[in-house]
Amino acid sequence: MTDSLVVRVPAKINLHLEVVGRRPDGFHELRTLFQSVGLWDTLRGWPAEEGRLELEIEPHGLVGNGPDNLVVRAVRALWREIGRRPGARLRLGKNIPVGGGMGGGSADAAGALILLDRMWALDLPSSNLRRLAAELGSDVPFFFHGGLCLGVGRGEEVLPLDDLPSLGIVLVVPHVEVSTAEVFSRLRLGPWKRMDDRVYAGVVDSTPEIEWSAACNDLERVVCEGWPLVAEALEGVRRLGPLFSTVSGSGATVFGVFESLDAASRAECVYEGPGRIEVVEILGRTRARPEAVAG
Ligand code: C5P
Repeated sequence: MTDSLVVRVPAKINLHLEVVGRRPDGFHELRTLFQSVGLWDTLRGWPAEEGRLELEIEPHGLVGNGPDNLVVRAVRALWREIGRRPGARLRLGKNIPVGGGMGGGSADAAGALILLDRMWALDLPSSNLRRLAAELGSDVPFFFHGGLCLGVGRGEEVLPLDDLPSLGIVLVVPHVEVSTAEVFSRLRLGPWKRMDDRVYAGVVDSTPEIEWSAACNDLERVVCEGWPLVAEALEGVRRLGPLFSTVSGSGATVFGVFESLDAASRAECVYEGPGRIEVVEILGRTRARPEAVAG
């Protein structure tokens, strides 16, 4: 059998997320801090004959492998871009929670672009890959960089920042899926928001720091009102005394930030509330940036 290539892409959380306003194109203008965390999806690929695309998902049936799957959409976007249809057999190992605001589908899309660019020896300019990524979803371009990044626009314009010092994260994944489009549609916005610069002041330094008292997620209230299980999980995390806690993206995952992995592990033991709990580290860019390798 031909050798396979593999790419591992880690999940993200949003350490801060401001909705600045609604844009004429219907999307929302954001200012957010993306941060990679140690929970990975794995995509493995083998070349196949022209026009053939197979996608197997593990665990089987966790997400569909039809035309809406972001890996399938990434393959089709590449086919359109290059005007031919090289084949692929793909196996996607899902570990990032589905519908959890941790960018699982977006991570898979970025992984597919990176893996297939190498497997099919396309060597597309990185600006073309980033454009395809942004068309696939607002979060997808972030996953090319990983680490700590500022996201603006729909979230697709990404500025990589230096790594934060290590932090431990308690993640709680309530057993409920939250639709991003639904959360944004329930937002009641006032006039275009003036940005609170306190949280950004420290992140552009060469040893970035976040002013946790100014960090927030403008989607938190809507998610907690609409999905009470998320509110319950967030209360449970808050009782653990984190430096900061909120929902990730549009939920359903909630997280608490602790000064170390040890502190997060100690907190995990006393969590009382709904959902699956995990302790992870934040990842610096060297560990987080995905690369397609033989294996
Ligand atoms: O870009 P993505 O496909 O991830 O977005 C999913 C949905 O979330 C969009 O269709 C839109 O309704 C909403 N959204 C938004 N503003 C953003 C990002 C997403 O309104 N910046």
